[in-house]
Amino acid sequence: MVKITEEVKEVMAKTKGWALATASKEGIPNVVPIAFAKPISDEKVMLVDVFMNKTKKNIEKNPNVAISVWDFDALKGYQLKGVAHFETSGNNFEEGVKMVKEMMPELEPKSALIVDVKEIYITSPGPDVGKRLNRKKITTSRTFSFYFFNFPAA
Ligand SMILES: Cc1cc2nc3c(=O)[nH]c(=O)nc-3n(C[C@H](O)[C@H](O)[C@H](O)COP(=O)(O)O)c2cc1C
Repeated sequence: MVKITEEVKEVMAKTKGWALATASKEGIPNVVPIAFAKPISDEKVMLVDVFMNKTKKNIEKNPNVAISVWDFDALKGYQLKGVAHFETSGNNFEEGVKMVKEMMPELEPKSALIVDVKEIYITSPGPDVGKRLNRKKITTSRTFSFYFFNFPAA
C-alpha cells in the first residue's frame, strides 16, 4: 500500500486540474481534465463525475486508471496509478456533491469516483524523475513502529 505524502497532497491542492487517464478493455486510451478532485485519505483520492462518458464506460470494463498532477510554478509533479470505482451514495458522494455545488451550484454531480492508489511516481524534471514512492512499515518493537520512504529503481 502506498501513502499519499504531504508533498503529493500539496501538489494536488495547488494544481488547477488533474489529468485522468483510463483505457478500454482493448487498450484504447482516454484522458480527460478534472477540476473537482481531492485526496480523501492517505491511500484514496476522489474525483467527481459530472460529465464522465467514455471515462465511465472504460472504468466499468477496466478499473485501472492513471492520474497526473503537477505544480507548474515549482516544476513538481506526480503520477498515480490505482483502481477506481464509482459511489452514488454515502459520505464520499455527499462530499463530492458539496464540493461541486460550492463552486458551481448549477451542476448535478452523478457519482464520486474513488481511486485506491497503488503506485506513485515522480514526474518532476530532475534526478528523481520516474522514481517510485514506496512505503514500508518497519516494526522495531511491539510498541514502536515507523515508516520510511525509499526509491527503488522503477
Ligand atoms: C477544465 C475542465 C475541468 C473539468 N472538470 C471535470 C470534473 O471535475 N468532472 C467531470 O466529470 N468532468 C470534468 N470535465 C469534463 C471532462 O474533462 C470530460 O469532458 C468528460 O469526462 C467527458 O469526456 P469522456 O467522454 O472522455 O469521459 C472538465 C473539463 C474541463 C475542460
